[in-house]
Amino acid sequence: MKPNNFRFRRLRRTAALRDMVRETQVSVNDLILPIFVEENIAAPVTIDSMPGVVRYPESQLADAVADAWELGIKAVLLFGVAEHKDAIGADTWHSEGLLARMIKIAKVAAPEMTVISDNCFCEYTDHGHCGVVCNGDVDNDTTLANLQQQVVNCAKAGVDMIAPSGMMDGMISAIRSALDDAGFTHIPVMSYSTKFASAFYGPFRDAVDSTFKGSRSTYQMDAANAREALAESMQDEQEGADILMVKPGTAYLDVLANIRQHSERPLAVYHVSGEYAMIKAAAAAGVIDEQAIVCETMTAFKRAGADLIITYYAKDLARWLKDH
Ligand code: PBG
Repeated sequence: MKPNNFRFRRLRRTAALRDMVRETQVSVNDLILPIFVEENIAAPVTIDSMPGVVRYPESQLADAVADAWELGIKAVLLFGVAEHKDAIGADTWHSEGLLARMIKIAKVAAPEMTVISDNCFCEYTDHGHCGVVCNGDVDNDTTLANLQQQVVNCAKAGVDMIAPSGMMDGMISAIRSALDDAGFTHIPVMSYSTKFASAFYGPFRDAVDSTFKGSRSTYQMDAANAREALAESMQDEQEGADILMVKPGTAYLDVLANIRQHSERPLAVYHVSGEYAMIKAAAAAGVIDEQAIVCETMTAFKRAGADLIITYYAKDLARWLKDH
């Protein structure tokens, strides 16, 4: 039998050839930039564990959104750090609450930008849980009713996409019916459909100045569960999610690839605070090449099946992609 003498190195010989046969590209069109806004501050507050990320005062949100648009970024994901906290997060469904105000400011600053709201309660409740607490646990269906009010409030404020991150059962059908009943049939829902209870969110809690010390394990997923990860995303697809998501990213590429094989919906991945902080810390220690590591990570997300990438590196990536 003739030996297989196929030579893979033939197509690796020149940079042009390598460019021609590259299977996976990261584009600025894929990127979603998270933005944090804190009530009652006058200047940006730095976040120690996340160098380069700040909490903006409301007065600087417009510039932050306009800068992102200028760099070619097509979508921002808004997080509010509220002063007005209570047991149920009622600020989120008030038409003059922080969530509604951020959306209006962002839409005026860059009308063509896709403005996405992170729809949860943890930044607006005094206990820090992602919903209403009853008998020591988050009550699913009471939280859903509040979430319905919250998303309609966001839609009225002009949001372009709803992104529920609270991991309540039935949240997508509850949101879809609330939006449709209020006349917002055109607003898509990007579900945090497979969100793990993860230590990688540690620096986010710094970022939102959270005093939360509890556990989210009765609603977020167990990192050990791959079948459940697929099932929960498929359930959200059936409930009408327009975009599915896996969060965090780097440690869950198998989950991403598996959902990609089972769904035709666009798929997002969230490169979370801990993933960002680890690269920043290693780069600051001089042990890795930051840009190369970030680009390799983003390429891995796309290779595994992600269409969209939510990352605190979005602005850096937009610049790096322009330079090449
Ligand atoms: C809260 C929320 C979290 C993140 C986004 N929304 C943290 C959590 O669930 O505790 C994490 C984002 C990040 O770590 O970058 N619903």
